[in-house]
Amino acid sequence: MIHKSGDWFFISTKNTSYVMRILDTGHVMHFSYGACIGHDAEGLEYIHDGFDVNVGCCTYYDEEHPRMFMNNLSMEYATVGKGDTREPAVDVRYSEGLSTLDPVYYEHRIFKGKDLGAVPCASADEDNVETLELVLKDKVVDLFIHLFYSSYEDEDVILRSTRIVNRTGSDVVLENVASLMLDFSDCNWELLSFDGAWARERNITRRKLHPGITVIDSKLGCSSNEHNSLVYLVRSDSGPDYGEVVATNLIYSGNHSERIDVGPFSKLRLVTGINPFGFSWTLADGESFTSPEAVVTYSSSGWNRASANFHSFIRKYIVRGKWRDRERPILINNWEATYFDFTEEKLMDLAARAKDLGIELFVLDDGWFGRRADDRSGLGDWVCNRKRLPGGLEGLGRRLHDMGLMFGIWVEPEMVNEDSELFEKHPDWRVSIPGRKPAVCRHQYVLDLSRKDVVDHLFSSLSSVFESGCVDYVKWDMNRTMSDYYSASGRSSGMGGFFHRYMLGLYSLLQRITERFPDILFEACAAGGNRFDLGMLCFMQQIWTSDNTDLHHRIGIQEGTLMGYPQSSMGAHVSASPGHQSLRKSSIESRFNVACWGAFGYELDLAKLCAEDLEAVRGQIRFYKKYRPVLQSGIFRKVVSSDDNLVFWASTLGKTTIVLEYQILNRPNTGVQDRLRLPFLNRSGVYRVEARRQIIRAEDLGDLSKAYGKTVSEEFSVTISGSLLCDYGLCLGPQFAGNGFCDGTRVLGDFGSRLYVVEEIG
Ligand code: GLA
Repeated sequence: MIHKSGDWFFISTKNTSYVMRILDTGHVMHFSYGACIGHDAEGLEYIHDGFDVNVGCCTYYDEEHPRMFMNNLSMEYATVGKGDTREPAVDVRYSEGLSTLDPVYYEHRIFKGKDLGAVPCASADEDNVETLELVLKDKVVDLFIHLFYSSYEDEDVILRSTRIVNRTGSDVVLENVASLMLDFSDCNWELLSFDGAWARERNITRRKLHPGITVIDSKLGCSSNEHNSLVYLVRSDSGPDYGEVVATNLIYSGNHSERIDVGPFSKLRLVTGINPFGFSWTLADGESFTSPEAVVTYSSSGWNRASANFHSFIRKYIVRGKWRDRERPILINNWEATYFDFTEEKLMDLAARAKDLGIELFVLDDGWFGRRADDRSGLGDWVCNRKRLPGGLEGLGRRLHDMGLMFGIWVEPEMVNEDSELFEKHPDWRVSIPGRKPAVCRHQYVLDLSRKDVVDHLFSSLSSVFESGCVDYVKWDMNRTMSDYYSASGRSSGMGGFFHRYMLGLYSLLQRITERFPDILFEACAAGGNRFDLGMLCFMQQIWTSDNTDLHHRIGIQEGTLMGYPQSSMGAHVSASPGHQSLRKSSIESRFNVACWGAFGYELDLAKLCAEDLEAVRGQIRFYKKYRPVLQSGIFRKVVSSDDNLVFWASTLGKTTIVLEYQILNRPNTGVQDRLRLPFLNRSGVYRVEARRQIIRAEDLGDLSKAYGKTVSEEFSVTISGSLLCDYGLCLGPQFAGNGFCDGTRVLGDFGSRLYVVEEIG
């Protein structure tokens, strides 16, 4: 709900309040964002008035306002030039290079729903969503700043964006337009960011904040595996279940920047939006520019609540189309099974084995098109290679459909190899600077999607592939980052307009393709998880998380990813042992226990599995199908562990909770008992806790196998009260150590894990 009372604006969701105040100078001050405080301004000025005593050489606004000390005032949207030297939200050049702006309240409107003009953007329904459009105008020139705030009542999410309208009579150059700025009255926060590189995406980094600016950003031309646009500010004493958290993310897939400025007077400012690096946008008189949307949530009860708020918001208002609420099929992908070395018969053999095990979708990865024999050729030519697939995609698709499998294909539309027909015809379509040799990555180049002719060509060539009628799923890949920033299209051919115009071109292509093929399930991919963001999720219902499917690395990758994105959006596969990225050996059961927390599949040569592993896979698929809604759409929580050698996750839907227990390294004779404490359950309920039966391979136990003599894990089923599970925790260790050996020989082993089904039965 949004309410104006005198000079105060109150934006509230079920459990949070966002409060602003118009000062007598007309400036809009950010008052607070946090727990719900209702809609009554009375007494609020006693919390803090935003002003401070002006001493020393500090700049104040004017002689009538000596306490209006701009460098310590909490602002709603900070500009340059009037004494606030902290990180600004907006930076413009007008009238021969001036940058000082002094925007004050001009007008506002409050309406149901939200403006759905920009692409991509969150959707809205009028019952749950209300929007405030707050317009500021510079005191001297006719430059207008429209600040949009949409409250998503049930999800405790507020959506922010900014529109700059130029009515100055001449060109204005935008150097920086933040989607969201948030001022905090103290700096006692720590930062969680989600960082990495190829094969180790979105691991959580926690850091203390010190005076100065901390920058999390991407300059790669995509949202990037180096730093995701998701950030959390957390109180130092907070954890999964307790303490204050403010978390933000952007609905954008290009270069972004999150700047956290601890100012000279111990206040904190967070600014997020398109990265000012490589951004410079000319607005002619009468034109406007709208920033991507930013989402923000607040929780007073820890990180799990904040991630759950994002998950439910994303499931409802970001993910679209027929697949939004559908269960994601279990897939087999041939990439790590065959790489480029496949024939139609080899694929059919893999498909038959997959079907027999209960898999639902067959995905044909890279190599089916043009002259693609390896990664040096073929990108750009989206025509089936009939030497490999004599019946074409239609023929293969029909055979798979006849078998009862869905059919999916891989494409990488944004790229071109020099060795391709497309490049021979249109060398000028690749991103490169005239007179310079462009940098290469994986032998490929980026197509200039800021050009309409390139987008039109991709729309028609992809449409003819997808139209063949048998494609149920598409994996849309993007395997390199940008270099040689230049576009021959339109204004700002240099770097300033290039990155964002590319994104607008990509989004227009995705919009057209997804409207034209509403039945297709899309999975975004970018060399694994180099573009895992809310912009892509507006078009594609799931995203390939990482090329690294090693179970241990996936614990970190998935835990970080799930802080911002729901399980149903997170592609996770069981692949071979030793893993192709880590060379680590692990049991197939443990690989499943970690992979089943997302949109699940297998990516290995099933013909190479032994009988025990095949039996294990059959059981896994049965289990996944039974609990798929809980695993894909339940409320995810990281569970606090009594031992940092153990990781616990939980996902709850209705009365069912699935729990993962994952052990890093086996440690003999510690005397420590694994303890499962689920503080979020119903204290007055009664629960049955059962372990999933796992196949134990004799090989995994080595010499101990004779003495151990078991081929499946022991049955484990206990009934326990909710209050014991919530407050004390269930001991898991001894039940599994009862084989006469010391604790160290438990079936869990190094990187071992187990799933539990916790059912409320009374
Ligand atoms: C990227 C993807 C992989 C696979 C290959 C194919 O690396 O992340 O999953 O599709 O491309 O070339």
